[in-house]
Amino acid sequence: MIKKCLFPAAGYGTRFLPATKSMPKEMMPIVNKPLIEFGVDEALEAGMNGMCIVTGRGKNSLTDHFDINYELENEISGTPKEEKLKDIRAIMDNAYFTFIRQREMKGLGHAILIGKKLIGDQPFAVVLADDLCINEEGDGVLKQMVALYNQFRCTIVAVQEVPEDQIHKYGVIKGEMIKDDIYRVDDMVEKPPQGTAPSNLAIIGRYILTPDIFDILKETPPGKGGEIQITDALLTQAKKGCVLAYKFKGKRFDCGSVPGYIEATNYVYDNIYED
Ligand code: UTP
Repeated sequence: MIKKCLFPAAGYGTRFLPATKSMPKEMMPIVNKPLIEFGVDEALEAGMNGMCIVTGRGKNSLTDHFDINYELENEISGTPKEEKLKDIRAIMDNAYFTFIRQREMKGLGHAILIGKKLIGDQPFAVVLADDLCINEEGDGVLKQMVALYNQFRCTIVAVQEVPEDQIHKYGVIKGEMIKDDIYRVDDMVEKPPQGTAPSNLAIIGRYILTPDIFDILKETPPGKGGEIQITDALLTQAKKGCVLAYKFKGKRFDCGSVPGYIEATNYVYDNIYED
């Protein structure tokens, strides 16, 4: 059973400056709901109730969002506005939240390693909340991945086909298809120089990781950009045992970039948001 989900949310979000100077990128709203809340919804739907958030300096609003705001609640209690808090109250009833700070931003791999104290020795999910995943036709992406984990019991990364002129922005896998939409990974490269990507399958912000990843991360030296890269650790894991890549069903919006954020906002407003 996968019960915990880790949300690395300590990055600086420089692509959204100045908005992210004092506000975490993960708190940016898609219409009226912050990105992190979409991620928590997805984890809850997948059966998890432990939400483990890696925060950084200036990110206290992430903690406050999942807590009671007595003054506000008192103010709107008994009015129709209370309805607007229904979803977040349901989250708070069904999930618990733990937080840890990443003091130095040494990369996503480092943030995941910091999260070990919250996760312990068990398989867990990772959600990068700035990748918004929506599947209106069926199960959410994490739920799809948990079903696969229950079958294969190994690390799974979500991948998406990406056009050639975009692939250099991602971690990219090479692997053999073992079943529809499932690949056994035998190579991975973080942000390959243009024209050198081993495939068009890019890793996006959803993972199920087995806990041996922590020991591997401890031994993983800084890679691209001087950061500890989860892609490098996953490659070691793939060589030692098994890592699967899963071409998920649904849409994914790169809300860490301005165009992706705008596209997500329009999509949610047109298809999901209810006033
Ligand atoms: P990104 O590189 O997309 O986020 O990291 P960023 O650094 O915040 O954004 P830009 O490029 O400056 O605009 C992917 C995810 O990993 C987390 C980020 O918060 C994001 O969710 N992360 C990254 C950490 O938690 N710690 C780090 O040291 C680096």
